Amino acid sequence: MDPMSKRIHLAALPYPGRGHINALMNLCKLLSLKNPNILISFIVTDEWFTFLAADPKPQNIHFATFPNVIPSELRRADDFPGFIRSIQTHMEAPVETLLRRLDPPPTAILADTFLTWAVQLGKCLNVPVASLWPMSATVFSILYHFDLLEENGHFPADLSERGEEIVDYFPGVSKIRLADLPSFFSGNGLQSVGFAVKSARFVDKSQFLISTSVYELESSVIDTLKEKFPFPVYTIGPSTPYFELESSATNDYLRWLDSQAEGSVLYVSQGSYLSVSSAQMDEIVAGVKASGVRFLWVARGDDDRFKDVDRETGMVVGWCDQLRVLCHRAIGGFWTHGGWNSTLEGVFAGVPMLAWPIFWDQFPNSKKIAEDWKVGVRFKAVGGRDLVSRVEIAEFVKRFMNSESIEGREMRNRVSELQEICRRAVAKGGSSDSNIDAFLSHISVEL
Ligand code: UDX
Repeated sequence: MDPMSKRIHLAALPYPGRGHINALMNLCKLLSLKNPNILISFIVTDEWFTFLAADPKPQNIHFATFPNVIPSELRRADDFPGFIRSIQTHMEAPVETLLRRLDPPPTAILADTFLTWAVQLGKCLNVPVASLWPMSATVFSILYHFDLLEENGHFPADLSERGEEIVDYFPGVSKIRLADLPSFFSGNGLQSVGFAVKSARFVDKSQFLISTSVYELESSVIDTLKEKFPFPVYTIGPSTPYFELESSATNDYLRWLDSQAEGSVLYVSQGSYLSVSSAQMDEIVAGVKASGVRFLWVARGDDDRFKDVDRETGMVVGWCDQLRVLCHRAIGGFWTHGGWNSTLEGVFAGVPMLAWPIFWDQFPNSKKIAEDWKVGVRFKAVGGRDLVSRVEIAEFVKRFMNSESIEGREMRNRVSELQEICRRAVAKGGSSDSNIDAFLSHISVEL
């Protein structure tokens, strides 16, 4: 019997944050495109359901909801450790109740790696659990092998004194400065590192590791993970809605982009929930305006700073269809906080990136962008100094958007090469495409 003809019922459990939910939903959509016979229950809080309900999705993906037992999305940025604690303590029971009520019962669980308790739930329900890691494989390896940092006297460490020290012992990970590791040396990062390390180690107990990376972009570290685990490790990235780009779309900002010269617009987005300090934001906004470069800016409600912006200087939106924007021919650069989804979207769209990391994995991602892949630049000063001035920012932006300089040309050539790698990975028979097929076959066999 063709395994694809069996009825798989996948319970998809996202960590309740935009970057995580998007990555899991995109994977679910891909699975459903590949196997229209699959049934997927996408499990979110009532609050997240209100955010997501209107988004288009295939008919075989259903939402199943549980009460708002965790703080609202808005409080995530204010109290990250508290947010994580409540995910560890308040989410499991209502999700278990819900899973036990699903009809038909789930045949597999696809859960964000941060939901460590999902592994135990799968055991109780006697179904396999695939752990979805929505950050880079590099960051996974760093967290999984966190002991090495301690053994080598690199944790804890005061980055103001030791930030330049090089770490070269994480399996498959290229040399990295202490300052470029995830921001777990102080503040909120320090308070949540235990949770992140535990999450990575819990993967030992799952039946699959699914990474939203692209094999060819991180092959050395992914090869070490494949050797380490006795179960399949599948890269399926980028987990972004490239499969929806064919459908036509128009709105005010896309029409504005249509009227702009090729490669002339800087797209500015700092992800879904974090921001730099208010004083720094003042400098950034003033600096970008002073650069004279036209911009499309995702202000997420912070509109007061942009009152003087007209359509000659730029366009400000609350939220946008990011991948579609990045793929627009008018976009010539992407100012990003270096979230993993945004990083891969920039590569997929072939747009050079200017990285300004704010928190956590955005530091190693920005290092990858600027140094490993050489598809962008970053503000070296970030993290090390209090305020970067508007004058410095204006100069930096002008240089970054200059596609004629040697540096500008090299960066653009390089990002085109990586774009090609990404497109090949998701095309029929490519590494990500084949891995999605393999995962589907695997969970069919488990039926
Ligand atoms: C955070 C981490 O930084 C990231 O590395 C991790 O993988 C998930 O949690 P976030 O800050 O939300 O994520 O950034 P990112 O990973 O870039 O995800 C943001 C998502 O929102 C992207 O898929 C992006 O396309 C989308 N987005 C953003 C929009 O669709 N529209 C917007 O206007 C802005």
